[in-house]
Amino acid sequence: MTSLKNQLQHHCNEFQHTDLQTLFQQNPDRVNEWTFQTAGIYADLSKNYVNKQTKKLWHTWLEKCQVRAGIEAITNGDKVNTSEHRPALHHRLRAPTSETFILDGKNISEQIAKVHQQMRKMSTSIRSGKWLGYSDKLITDIIHIGIGGSELGPHLLCQTFAHLSDNKLNIHFLASTDPIRLSELKQHLNPETTIITIASKSFSTEETLVNAQYLREWLRAAGGEKADKQMIAISANIDKAQAFGIDTQHILPLWDWVGGRFSIWSAISLPFVLQNGFNAYQALLNGAHEMDKHFQQTGLMANLPVQLALLDAWYNHYFAINNRAVITYAHSLRLFPQYLQQLDMESLGKRANFDGKPLNQPSGLIIWGGTGTESQHAFFQLLHQGQRQVPIDFIAIKDAPKGYERAQQLILGHCLAQSEALMSGRDEYALADIPSKERYQRTSPGNHPSTTIILKALTPEVVGAFIALYEHKVTVLGLLYGVNAYDQWGVELGKVLAQKTQISLTKTMQAHDSSTTTILNYLKS
Ligand code: F6P
Repeated sequence: MTSLKNQLQHHCNEFQHTDLQTLFQQNPDRVNEWTFQTAGIYADLSKNYVNKQTKKLWHTWLEKCQVRAGIEAITNGDKVNTSEHRPALHHRLRAPTSETFILDGKNISEQIAKVHQQMRKMSTSIRSGKWLGYSDKLITDIIHIGIGGSELGPHLLCQTFAHLSDNKLNIHFLASTDPIRLSELKQHLNPETTIITIASKSFSTEETLVNAQYLREWLRAAGGEKADKQMIAISANIDKAQAFGIDTQHILPLWDWVGGRFSIWSAISLPFVLQNGFNAYQALLNGAHEMDKHFQQTGLMANLPVQLALLDAWYNHYFAINNRAVITYAHSLRLFPQYLQQLDMESLGKRANFDGKPLNQPSGLIIWGGTGTESQHAFFQLLHQGQRQVPIDFIAIKDAPKGYERAQQLILGHCLAQSEALMSGRDEYALADIPSKERYQRTSPGNHPSTTIILKALTPEVVGAFIALYEHKVTVLGLLYGVNAYDQWGVELGKVLAQKTQISLTKTMQAHDSSTTTILNYLKS
């Protein structure tokens, strides 16, 4: 019998002889069959290389990879992070805290509820002006220090919902140790009126600690030890946070069952709570929980995250496509492609399977993107006429504020026009009026696949569901590729070598390759 892999490859090859438009002619119900709606999200997958036969094969693929069992395992709190022997329970952070969930004999819902109380109290006190700086002045600015999952999540949320902010707090983010950024913040902000939130699950990430030391010194230089009360930590390493000088009352805990890139639902998002209030944060959690219910309870072939994951694995393994572009037709979501890069690429960029054996096909796609319509005037030329295959997720928002109808029509119109043009293209017949020698330059081949995802509105609920959708997609991709999506051993090598290059920069030159040695010498000269 032909293996599933051969069947999938054979089926993929069939698409070489047809085009996307023909698929619509072959099946008038195609759009219905490939459109999904859940938790305020509308997703149309019909402009992709899929048909009824694909569904059949995908179904078998899901069974072969035991995807249903995998979803149950993560839901139940099994140790799905096999290399670090931990469950991945970020989804519990957004479940109702009234639901008991026992892990190692403890009800983690109670622990989560307790942190919510702390977040609520802390944020109310800062937002209401009760929490004053060391010289009794009102807090005006927050500097959030963190990197990776400890920065991207809250940064994304603060950018997305800045327009709904109900107070005058200015939130700033500091991730890498860029001296210019550090000095800029110190120059423009007043230590008397600034609170520093230090987010690090491990409380040992070098960039975060160095930035925190600079800003602790800045606070202390102005206000002495009294200024320490303007520091808040969010960490799973309480001892280290205390040793750094943070008051125990100002430490919000995190747990080892929450991965860094999945920590947006935890106290790491305190800056968002400070900007938009606890109710907005609760709404975000509620929306994500709606998506969790869809993911956990819906049949796999009607399950949106599962279908999106299948598309990526399908393109990756059978069409030899190595990337996906994500274009958000919403300025507020401009950080989303970057957020997704960590979520997806740090989870899926692996070389070993669950059992530690080499993978024989690459896992993970290169995720990149930008905002619409800006990117149409930047890199879309290559997408339309360059000879590369780039599947795209087009992200748009249905509802807009009143009074901006023309702007909304324009942005939505452009979004849809791109996916249409990429699919349909333009052939020489449509260019009869153009001199024949110029016609070919103006043709577009079309036949480029894309998915359109529309958020009902840019609210915390819908955005919560939207982010959870991509998280679940990553979970399923881990199962389809057979990799642990919850560790990131590759990142460690860079961290270790950075210790050595720092010694070479500041003390004695260590052994490096000759290119690196020469650059180090140049930097020291
Ligand atoms: O990049 C590696 C990583 O461990 C990420 O997974 C994580 O989000 C980031 O570093 C920051 O880690 P921490 O929150 O422990 O400072």
